[in-house]
Amino acid sequence: MGNDKGMHVISLPALREAMRQLVRGFGSTPAEVDEVVDNLIGANLRGHDSHGIGMLPRYADAFLEGNLQPNAHVRVEIDAGALLRLNGQSGFGQVIGREAMELGIARARELGSCVVALGHSHHLGRIGAWAEQAAAAGLVSVHFVNVVSRPIVAPHGGSDARFGTNPFCVGIPFEGREPVILDFATSVIAQGKTRVAHNKGELVDPGCLIDDQGRPSQLPRFTVVPPLGALLTFGGHKGYGLALVCELLGGALAAGLTTHDHDNSKRRVLNGMFSILIDPARIADRAAFEAEAGTFLDWTRGSAPREGFDDVLTAGEPERRYLAERTRDGIPVDVTTWSEIVDAAARLGVDATQLRRAAGFEA
Ligand SMILES: NC(=O)c1ccc[n+]([C@@H]2O[C@H](COP(=O)([O-])OP(=O)(O)OC[C@H]3O[C@@H](n4cnc5c(N)ncnc54)[C@H](O)[C@@H]3O)[C@@H](O)[C@H]2O)c1
Repeated sequence: MGNDKGMHVISLPALREAMRQLVRGFGSTPAEVDEVVDNLIGANLRGHDSHGIGMLPRYADAFLEGNLQPNAHVRVEIDAGALLRLNGQSGFGQVIGREAMELGIARARELGSCVVALGHSHHLGRIGAWAEQAAAAGLVSVHFVNVVSRPIVAPHGGSDARFGTNPFCVGIPFEGREPVILDFATSVIAQGKTRVAHNKGELVDPGCLIDDQGRPSQLPRFTVVPPLGALLTFGGHKGYGLALVCELLGGALAAGLTTHDHDNSKRRVLNGMFSILIDPARIADRAAFEAEAGTFLDWTRGSAPREGFDDVLTAGEPERRYLAERTRDGIPVDVTTWSEIVDAAARLGVDATQLRRAAGFEA
């Protein structure tokens, strides 16, 4: 464990053990404890601290309010062959997401494709994890996700928040090379990133958010503490359009639940996810597809980096770079996030001294 400029750097085994102690406080089975911890730390390892262990205090609040149900599993509501409608029963998204993908993967292998409409899952975390699961099974996947929590993103041209950061994700696997995993929030930056910036006392880039009067601001507090402003969608009306489609497909169609009020009272985060899984070998000559895709990816990567850039990358690559680095060097956790985690431990009845020790801190 090290401490550098307001950051603790915690080794992977130590962080894993400390977070296991915390998640046991939810009353989860040992398997669920491991799954929640590994998924969240997996987001930190891939550079997405916004969707890593820093979510646990929020999960603790949702659980204590009775809106996150540990040890819940996916319930099949409609099974129509290549169409599955699933209910996540407010369970940990780390378990529900994996179970939903397992069902969809089995169907897509059998039938060539499967549409999975998943509703009422608690926070599904980093959506790329589900595209990676499908890609590891050799499947292409597309995911449209809505977020039912307090609204945080303004519609293009609007002055206040009307929906969530609605992520969109695509996974494309190849036999001879790493998959393409495109996975992003439709807001200019993920909300968790404004929380991390707020915790670190940093400004966000211009063009990311508006204040409570609808004026441009760089202060992340306007998305963290009242009076609240809103994040903007990426790419103006284009990102707004994609966010809208995520709400209509992931929310209205898959979950039967959209954001349509300013209710700030609940801490839970529900995700609806509309996923399309496709076996590429059933719709194309796999070798020809891979050869053509590989040629295009190499051609794109061949562009010389322009000023201000070190590299031309492919979606999925930055996360793999972080994964290698952080697995080796440890995971940075800012001091505010860490203290929120220690507070959450106390709320869950977990011994905070033991937890700190497990993470490598002096008691
Ligand atoms: N569950 C939820 O409710 C929820 C809501 C919003 C976001 N999220 C998650 O938050 C995470 C972070 O989202 P974000 O919008 O901050 O992501 P981001 O802005 O970091 O973009 C990530 C995507 O862009 C690619 N990328 C990054 N730099 C690149 C480069 N230089 N060249 C080429 N590709 C590059 C990455 O490989 C990845 O596919 C995602 O995993 C998303 O699923 C979840």
